[in-house]
Amino acid sequence: MKILIIGSGGREHAIGIKIFEQNKNVKIYFAPGNGGILQIGENVILDVENHQSVIEFCFQNEIDLVIIGPEQPLVNGIADDLRNAGINVFGPSKNAARIEGDKSFAKNLMNKYGVPTASHKTFKNLEIENAIDYLSNGKFPIVIKASGLAAGKGVIIANDFNEAKSAIIDIMQNSIFGSAGEKVVIEEFLEGEELSVFVITDGKDFVILPPAQDHKRIADGDTGKNTGGMGAYSPISFVNDKLLEEIKSKVIIPTLKGLENSDSLFNGCLYCGLINTKDGIKVIEFNCRFGDPETQAVLQIVDGDFLELLNSTAKGKINKEIVKYNGGSAICVVVASGGYPDNYEKGFEIFGLNEKFDENVKVIHAGTKFENKRILTSGGRVLNIVAFDKQNDLKYCKSKAYKVLDKVKFEKMYFRRDIGFKAIKL
Ligand code: AMP
Ligand code: GLY
Repeated sequence: MKILIIGSGGREHAIGIKIFEQNKNVKIYFAPGNGGILQIGENVILDVENHQSVIEFCFQNEIDLVIIGPEQPLVNGIADDLRNAGINVFGPSKNAARIEGDKSFAKNLMNKYGVPTASHKTFKNLEIENAIDYLSNGKFPIVIKASGLAAGKGVIIANDFNEAKSAIIDIMQNSIFGSAGEKVVIEEFLEGEELSVFVITDGKDFVILPPAQDHKRIADGDTGKNTGGMGAYSPISFVNDKLLEEIKSKVIIPTLKGLENSDSLFNGCLYCGLINTKDGIKVIEFNCRFGDPETQAVLQIVDGDFLELLNSTAKGKINKEIVKYNGGSAICVVVASGGYPDNYEKGFEIFGLNEKFDENVKVIHAGTKFENKRILTSGGRVLNIVAFDKQNDLKYCKSKAYKVLDKVKFEKMYFRRDIGFKAIKL
């Protein structure tokens, strides 16, 4: 079998490793991939925005399955164009990807189908005055979101009216998030524990992978700026069967139905960003793809044929019995370039990658490149150190993961030291 994985991050590398471990005969291409791919596949240079060139690549190389990692190509409709050309794709259509690409679409869908979420109001960019008026009667803190894609940065939590007003002016007048801010969603601030739930679905049937918790802030104790995610662990102890049932009945089932009814049948991974409030589970956001870095942790604790899960889903009839939670736990520590999520330097050599690590540890690449026989940093989030344990001992996983960072080094590297802190009582 031949597979093309689109993307270059830890998520895509983790998916590739999982497939490779289980199917040594599969040929995996990555576009564009990263510096860690050599052991499991081949990086190819493709203009992913040019869907025709991706289609041609798939025909020339007899690709049996395309897996699309990031949201932007999905929102741009790459899955539709590939499917129309007869290519087998894991990833939602442009219409279905609006669940992430247009927050106001997602909010309206949730409201229409009774999916619990923060109360909200949407404003278009000509309605600045109305938005500010609305804020003057708001309850603070309040949440202001660019409706379009803003690389995970389009959310501002404003503590008082003045902060909220500046955010509105920054987004709607000064266009700090570009066209993503042409529509703005203002919503109620929710309190509770957050969790990420991946729903693999052919649009009707689905499988839920073990829930994970991300660490979005840059610094220990969940402080500082929002990032793409600085670490994750899975599973989450507070998610019992009852809560999982609530997530299914109140969130997943009505959302999939709503998408189907809006000509947006969802085929792929529906990422449910949830919050467990005192009034029950609520949706913070949906994404139209696997989460990063949660995937790097979650995939370590599912047994079974993951490729068959994705392939059967892509073909429209998910094989629901093929993967199972293995009872273990996993943690992922993201290693970033110093300065991330703002400015940072690239091009530093990474040392220690050839050391012998524990068999329950993996070093998954993200912003790296292979050049002149060396691995160099090439992005903000550089590596993911993942440790897992079949006995579900998260504390053990944490100590194994951090031990790797005694050996793996690059100039100005930065990582949080407290990944899993809410679950691990020391
Ligand atoms: P998002 O990009 O929508 O995931 O938002 C990024 C982060 O902002 C979330 O993970 C939450 O921590 C926070 N956030 C977003 N919406 C809300 C909300 N309504 N109430 C509280 N926090 C929120
Ligand atoms: N870890 C957050 C995301 O993938 O959006």
